[in-house]
Amino acid sequence: MQENQKTNSPIYDLIILGASGFTGKYVVKEALRFLSHPPLKTIALAGRNPTKLTQTLQWASHPNHPPPIPILTFNTSDPQSLLSLCRQTKLVLNCVGPFRLYGEPVVAACVEIGCDYLDICGEPEFMERMEAKYGEKAAEKGALIISACGFDSVPAELGLMFNSRQWEEPAVPNSVEAYLSLESERTIVGNFGTYESAVLGVANAGSLQQLRRSRPRRARPVIPGPTPPKGPLIENQKKIGLWAVKLPSADSVVVRRTLAALTENPHGLPGVSESAEQIEKREAFWSTMKPTHFGVKIGSKSLLGVFRFIVVGIFIGLLGQTAFGRWLLLSFPSIFSLGWFRKKGPSDDEVRSASFKMWFVGHGFSNSTLASPGNVKPDMQIITRVMGPEIGYLTTPIILLQCARIVLSQRDNLPKGGVLTPGIVFGPTDLQARLQENGISFELISKSALS
Ligand SMILES: NC(=O)c1ccc[n+]([C@@H]2O[C@H](COP(=O)([O-])OP(=O)(O)OC[C@H]3O[C@@H](n4cnc5c(N)ncnc54)[C@H](OP(=O)(O)O)[C@@H]3O)[C@@H](O)[C@H]2O)c1
Repeated sequence: MQENQKTNSPIYDLIILGASGFTGKYVVKEALRFLSHPPLKTIALAGRNPTKLTQTLQWASHPNHPPPIPILTFNTSDPQSLLSLCRQTKLVLNCVGPFRLYGEPVVAACVEIGCDYLDICGEPEFMERMEAKYGEKAAEKGALIISACGFDSVPAELGLMFNSRQWEEPAVPNSVEAYLSLESERTIVGNFGTYESAVLGVANAGSLQQLRRSRPRRARPVIPGPTPPKGPLIENQKKIGLWAVKLPSADSVVVRRTLAALTENPHGLPGVSESAEQIEKREAFWSTMKPTHFGVKIGSKSLLGVFRFIVVGIFIGLLGQTAFGRWLLLSFPSIFSLGWFRKKGPSDDEVRSASFKMWFVGHGFSNSTLASPGNVKPDMQIITRVMGPEIGYLTTPIILLQCARIVLSQRDNLPKGGVLTPGIVFGPTDLQARLQENGISFELISKSALS
């Protein structure tokens, strides 16, 4: 393994860990699009199996000849191999999951060395555990540790901020519900890695509750108006033409952590070495962000589609509780996910033909003076939408790479370190504009009065 021990300065701008995985290979493909364009000059691929990594590089470069990118080996069970990787790079992109099984040693090594870290995790328990365990040390060492830099949970975080900015004074939002709709002319399929992460997440829901109980309560934002009612299990959202049911994804948890961080730091988090102009820009950005209640639902054009979501939810929720149930779920993913997850993952064609729409339906008050904790009903609705290509293997790599390019090019404007959410770190940067340039759109759909 190559190592720059003499100068102690990193050889690589970034190393992609788990590059041979299903998502990892699409991340490599996206990284190659930006290689040799500042700030991304040098990258390396890392994994357990050099042959698989070489094949990944060939696949990702096709039809071109693979560029001369170093292949490094590591195993999450070997801390020395991880420390060695972290010494060689400014930034780690971690695609090794499930994160609850393999993520902690990677975070620990990055924090120890003080190197920055982004991942595509969608597992709340892992993220909150890393925050509790490594938050202080990461801040001290100057390591920026940011999970959920993929479809989980950047569209939700930036989409909510985009909706929030549409509420111009004196109007204020009270609640925003995001409705996710997955679309394809072919079959919508996810790889086993995501399914396994979800099953293990459900199985360990108790440890998340325990972790939360053991930690001091985070600050809660003051939200104008009443707490919105729970609503029916299945909702018919006529305005956007979807039937929908609650989606227990990481998004609302990550957004809540961002809102807590913002409540504790109303001007956002200071950059490690910001200019006066940048400070003004950051503070102006956060002054437009109005906290709201937030939830996420998954939608379908037909009621039958929603029943399929419910059936899969019941399978995972019930069978995930016992070892035998988990064995069944993980041995027969296609059966228990009703075809949504496959051991081999989707084909390239299936990936290319899929897309997503995430609608943000905001309810609030045309004038903040109308908002009271009493029984006042919102009188205004603002609908916005984030839209993009397939979520797991196209949108996720696009987001991860743009986050990485921001870390590499705007490090002075970002916090010195800490275990943080993408929203609190990237909110005031140009991430939204970068995503728009790369095929993920943010649109205002309608502003209307409610009777
Ligand atoms: N945020 C999002 O929206 C989003 C989207 C997609 C995926 N994800 C998450 O990304 C993770 C990966 O998913 P996937 O479908 O790509 O899974 P995958 O195909 O199974 O890939 C897992 C990768 O981890 C590597 N790995 C496993 N154990 C390791 C160890 N002990 N040491 C070093 N490397 C190890 C594997 O290496 P080998 O190749 O050697 O086996 C492989 O490269 C999952 O947690 C999934 O939930 C999130």
